[in-house]
Amino acid sequence: MTFLADAFRQVDTSSDLAKLEICLSLMERLPDFLAYKNMSYDLLALDPDGKVADVACGLGFDLPRLKQLVPTGEVTGFDLSENFVKAAQSNVVDVLGTEDPSVTVRQGDIHALGCEPDLFDAARIDRSLQHIPDPAAAIAGMARIVRPRGIVCAAEPDWSSFVIGSDMPAASRQVEAAFRRGFRNPLIGQQLPAMFGTQLSVTHHSAHPILLRSLSDAEIIFDITHTAERCVESGDMSATESRSFLDNLRKAEETGTFFALLIIHVVSGRKH
Ligand SMILES: C[S@@+](CC[C@H](N)C(=O)[O-])C[C@H]1O[C@@H](n2cnc3c(N)ncnc32)[C@H](O)[C@@H]1O
Repeated sequence: MTFLADAFRQVDTSSDLAKLEICLSLMERLPDFLAYKNMSYDLLALDPDGKVADVACGLGFDLPRLKQLVPTGEVTGFDLSENFVKAAQSNVVDVLGTEDPSVTVRQGDIHALGCEPDLFDAARIDRSLQHIPDPAAAIAGMARIVRPRGIVCAAEPDWSSFVIGSDMPAASRQVEAAFRRGFRNPLIGQQLPAMFGTQLSVTHHSAHPILLRSLSDAEIIFDITHTAERCVESGDMSATESRSFLDNLRKAEETGTFFALLIIHVVSGRKH
């Protein structure tokens, strides 16, 4: 079984790439995700001829939007996954309607981006430091590739803020905790200001709620049923309790009262 948080660490070894693509594609259609993403683009303070990097770019959805901000500049996406690099290249051509040599996607590990220092005016990362072994080193790597006075921006969740609303709070807390445990760095959102502060001058910090009121969307993004099954396998929850919990969520969906909530922190910093 593919668990989302595990799979995003090593996309190319995932047995269910489609599940990851469906998850990322759904987020691109939800207003709460687009709201913090739009803010993160503004924070990059790009000039029309600027050069910008989107690190761990996934399927490349942010790249055409960044290109709009640098019509005479360059956009470079990096991702660890060869599969996602190919998909991102193809998605960019689909959105732009043509191959644009000023928008490129490269395979690269965030811990060792193979490009010269001071190359970009700005670099961003979005919901990816949560998955990687050494986020502080990754932020240092992003600071390395931007020029002096350039901007680094990160948008990352704080999984301690994750809530699945239900009439069974104990079960909700078990499932939230089990999902949170799947991440290497579940508290990265709240750690960003301090982590940026050791390497950059922090220029912005804001917190953005992601409020899902559709159970089917929450299943895709938060893997709720699989996580409840995982709680049963680990002995944290009985099979009966898990079934009641999932029934409870379905009833909430029917009455229009279902919700799941997560806070994303957006932090930017200027290179000294
Ligand atoms: C949750 S996705 C986010 C994708 C994209 N930023 C977005 O907003 O849709 C996490 C991404 O991090 C990438 N990733 C994981 N570990 C990485 C690493 N060590 N170096 C570069 N990318 C990595 C994954 O391949 C995946 O594309």
